[in-house]
Amino acid sequence: MQARAAIACPNSRHRTGDTAIRVNKLAGWLLPLGTQGTRGPLARIARPYAWSGPAVAVLGVLTSLLEGASVGILIPLLALLMSDSVPAGVPGPIRAIAQVTASYDVETRILAIGAGILALIVLKGMIQAASAALATHVEGRVGDDIRKSLADRVLAMSYRTYLEHDSVRFLQIVSSDSWHTTKVVGWVLSMVTGIVSLTVMGALLVWLEWRLFAIVAAGGIAIGGVLFVLERRLGHLGIAVTQTNRLLAERMITVVNAFRPIRIFGQRDREQARFGDASDCVRHAMEAVARSTALIIPSVELMVSAMFVVVLLAAHRLGISLPVLTAFLVLLTRAQPHARELSTARLGIASMRSAVREVEWMLGIADDSLGSAGAGTGRAADAANLPPEGAPIRFDDVTYAYPNGSAGVGGVSFTLQPGVATALIGRSGAGKSTLVNLLCRLIDPQQGAILVGERRLDTISPAQWHTRIALAGQDIELVDGTVAENIAYARASASQEEIEGVARAAGADAFIRQLPQGYATPLSLEALSLSGGQRQRIGLARALLKNADLLILDEATSAVDGLSEQEIMRLLAEHRHFRTVLVISHRRSTLAACQNGIVIEDGRIVEAGPLAGLDYYRTMAGDTHRTGEPVKPGK
Ligand SMILES: Nc1ncnc2c1ncn2[C@@H]1O[C@H](COP(=O)(O)OP(=O)(O)OP(=O)(O)O)[C@@H](O)[C@H]1O
Ligand SMILES: [Mg+2]
Repeated sequence: MQARAAIACPNSRHRTGDTAIRVNKLAGWLLPLGTQGTRGPLARIARPYAWSGPAVAVLGVLTSLLEGASVGILIPLLALLMSDSVPAGVPGPIRAIAQVTASYDVETRILAIGAGILALIVLKGMIQAASAALATHVEGRVGDDIRKSLADRVLAMSYRTYLEHDSVRFLQIVSSDSWHTTKVVGWVLSMVTGIVSLTVMGALLVWLEWRLFAIVAAGGIAIGGVLFVLERRLGHLGIAVTQTNRLLAERMITVVNAFRPIRIFGQRDREQARFGDASDCVRHAMEAVARSTALIIPSVELMVSAMFVVVLLAAHRLGISLPVLTAFLVLLTRAQPHARELSTARLGIASMRSAVREVEWMLGIADDSLGSAGAGTGRAADAANLPPEGAPIRFDDVTYAYPNGSAGVGGVSFTLQPGVATALIGRSGAGKSTLVNLLCRLIDPQQGAILVGERRLDTISPAQWHTRIALAGQDIELVDGTVAENIAYARASASQEEIEGVARAAGADAFIRQLPQGYATPLSLEALSLSGGQRQRIGLARALLKNADLLILDEATSAVDGLSEQEIMRLLAEHRHFRTVLVISHRRSTLAACQNGIVIEDGRIVEAGPLAGLDYYRTMAGDTHRTGEPVKPGK
């Protein structure tokens, strides 16, 4: 076991950046809508369901009235059992029931009142079930809307915004915090039911015996005060749970993703210990929440029991009759589940408040112009706004620095001529992929401009612009689905013949046919058994299928062996897959099909012109194309 420093668990007191809490006191206490109160994005999602609050409240009033009535008619029942007269001080309607039934014999009266009580309880149960079904429905719908909005937020996000944030935090919010937030919706509705029911029952208790109610109200206020203090502590503990969960998610991703390095570099013990530490942190945080919650229930029960004793004592001193006292105590007992429902909901909300804030934070990430422009879908009507196909693309003094301050490119100027294959070359970290990101409008220049013909690229929505581009990169960005679906990702309407045609051009057809189900092999299962080069060929076939005006190959064949790569480049050129093309490679042979070249060093262009004349190209390692001559692009 290697020596390691014990990690400090994330703590609610370490509040930084976005998780810092500015408690919007009263609104925050009543409605757990994060830091932005009723104007925040969660409030906007919940607003269409606002009707459910009053609906649940009305059902709560009906339930409590029925509950009160079923208890109220206990008084004549008890009075009949003890003597034949209804005690003094009993409210009018109850006295009336006793008088109506007075003409019948005692047993009939008891049966009639008993049947009345049962009917009221059945009705109450039906209304309660309707209220619970309504709450479940609303909770489900709001949860659905929250999850869809979160997914939408990521899909509409600009690349720059994506780079600025921690993707593990996004994962944690979508996979865990959104579920907790959904639960809060159910608790808010429980709170509404709890408040309404307690109010109605309180009114009935006042009506029955206001002096006893005064004692109960004083006790209720004392219990509420204790709960308030405990809840504040739970709120802080909830933040610790969220933070430790995020730490655990990060460690989990390392354990799953870094499968080979962990073994090759003998880091199994280290990763096991780090994961164990994070898991311990989650356990400690959850135990702290459980301890605080466990303390609350016995404390409340103790206070409620003490209150009952005081009520009995007062009833004796005030000379309150036994039927009235019994009805009062039964009603008070029936009110208890509602009080418990209210406090459970309050405590649940308090412990989930930090999850709610995380969801609200993610939903509230500001839309920037690039992200919102990307929301378009490249509709046919918009295509008219695009510059004509085959226009030259000019970088004019373009500068871009990454959010973390690392210099991407600075003062870059060059032109991509239509119908020409251009090689973009330079050392690692020189800025080649940054230029590709700019060209694809995944990011916008901070200075200078990119012009497509006469039109500035930043006036064209990314979605429209992307209809003109196909990109194959070094990273293997395969998606969930079959091989055919992965290739057809570029154009869903493509026929099987077209898919197989581009797969042949990308040198992928032969190995695909050897897969267990050929083109229908699901890649979610097979991806691990494909080599890096095979995956790149699928990525290349996908880019070719798009048949776009501008094809960008960013080290798209870096994992393909030299001979196969030469064959692929020859097929691409011969079958007119090259129009305007930008090829990035560290291998000289890959570039042999290009006429022009641009050399970039430390984010600046240092050479440009016909490829064969560039010093950097001449000194590059790698086989030359076997024909020895550049291949002419198609079209
Ligand atoms: N997502 C990012 N966040 C911060 N800095 C980045 C990011 N991507 C690239 N950079 C920085 O920008 C500079 C240019 O990187 P870029 O990826 O464009 O290089 P490259 O020429 O494509 O390198 P390679 O040949 O290794 O792919 C480097 O200094 C790099 O550290
Ligand atoms: Mg790169």
